Amino acid sequence: MSRPYVIDEMISAKAIAARIEELAKEISQEYADTEQVVVIGLLRGSFVFIADLARELDLPVEVDFMEVSSYGNEMVSSREVRILKDLRGQIEGRDVLVVEDIVDTGYTLSHVISLLKSRKPKRLKTIALLDKPSRREVDFKADYIGFEIPDEFVVGYGIDYAQRNRNLGYIGKVRFPE
Ligand code: PRP
Ligand code: MN
Ligand code: MG
Repeated sequence: MSRPYVIDEMISAKAIAARIEELAKEISQEYADTEQVVVIGLLRGSFVFIADLARELDLPVEVDFMEVSSYGNEMVSSREVRILKDLRGQIEGRDVLVVEDIVDTGYTLSHVISLLKSRKPKRLKTIALLDKPSRREVDFKADYIGFEIPDEFVVGYGIDYAQRNRNLGYIGKVRFPE
């Protein structure tokens, strides 16, 4: 068990929905010529974001998932990215969009992207709902970013603290009262 904490709202459900609508429009234009785009969610954190984003895309969409973990139940990255479940489908020669909840140190997405690149997709772009650039340890920038945030430990909208709070409808920051 972790010590008691409270969650302060940082980004409301309404603000998230509005931003997703904007991003979906941009992506739908960018991929307008696609036969079918493979939208890949990185479990578990992206499950809420991919559900909302995929439904806003005005494109022929295929949904696939990879399960990737580097934090476990800790607040700091292990810097070791474990692939717990690989894609079901093939991506060679295809248009791909990788959907992630947050880029922090950058280890997770940079690892996944180099793996997926080796499978020779035609187009490979990434979207992250949240970006914490101040914490970056490896050079990585998502193609689409929902919100840039300061160095706070955040939860909700898919993001957990020790597997809890993924089901919050908004993004909140964790605070430990004295
Ligand atoms: C979290 C988050 C991102 C990653 C970002 O996943 O969902 O995938 O860490 O951190 P990084 O940029 O420092 O690598 P986590 O390993 O906690 O797994 P989860 O998605 O199952 O919660
Ligand atoms: Mn994750
Ligand atoms: Mg996690």
